[in-house]
Amino acid sequence: MNRLSDRKHRKLKIAIDGPAGAGKSTVARKVARALGYLYLDTGAMYRALAVLARERNISLDDHETLGAMASSVKMDVREDNGVFRVFLDGREVTDKLRTPETDRAVKLLAMSRPVREVLVSLQRKFAEGGGVVMEGRDITSVVMPDAEVKVFLTADLEERARRRWKELREKGIDIDLEEVLHELKERDRKDLERDWGRLVKVDDAVLIDSTGKTPDEVLAEILRLCEVKASCSTDLPGACSL
Ligand code: DC
Repeated sequence: MNRLSDRKHRKLKIAIDGPAGAGKSTVARKVARALGYLYLDTGAMYRALAVLARERNISLDDHETLGAMASSVKMDVREDNGVFRVFLDGREVTDKLRTPETDRAVKLLAMSRPVREVLVSLQRKFAEGGGVVMEGRDITSVVMPDAEVKVFLTADLEERARRRWKELREKGIDIDLEEVLHELKERDRKDLERDWGRLVKVDDAVLIDSTGKTPDEVLAEILRLCEVKASCSTDLPGACSL
């Protein structure tokens, strides 16, 4: 057990935001594993509701019905063996989260304010008491503005596209790099233009550019930030600034 996960130290809240393909999931999972914290992939939660909306044929611009759907379903999440699993009313939907259909639907569903309110409140419950690493788009700004460690993780558009393209090829999906690049640009636009929960870098978030870095290099940078925060004492306020 290291110093940060030691019982004597307070359990931190670690918030990681950034655009699609910046490496948030890989890095956040590594941070959580290193510290023995809970890992929460909030994108997967939006994706699960997009799966349900499609199954129920709910129009993705009918925000009221989407909100009612979100508040009436029981969502459970569990990370096991490197897989973030999502269950809706006890039924696992993990396999359906990363299909091209869900990719298309979730961009629109994430624009629904009633849906966001339901998920934000659920995510805040997971954050109670700390000891959590949460990643998404609005974690530093809306879900955990009180997080001790806030990171805005980004990378060049071309590098993000190459990573995503490699990932898809490894899954056997034959797709053009140009097409992936176009799709990422579109997702960036949607993430930045949303009225609610749009992707922003808050002032107290530390910017980490993962271009040309390995996940372990980014992990080391985040663990350093955590060390600083964990050793913060209320007697020494200056010691807490990152
Ligand atoms: O990180 P991801 O690609 O799995 O996210 C899926 C979608 O959900 C994407 O369109 C952005 C959106 N999202 C969001 O609006 N807020 C979050 N906290 C996480 C994801």
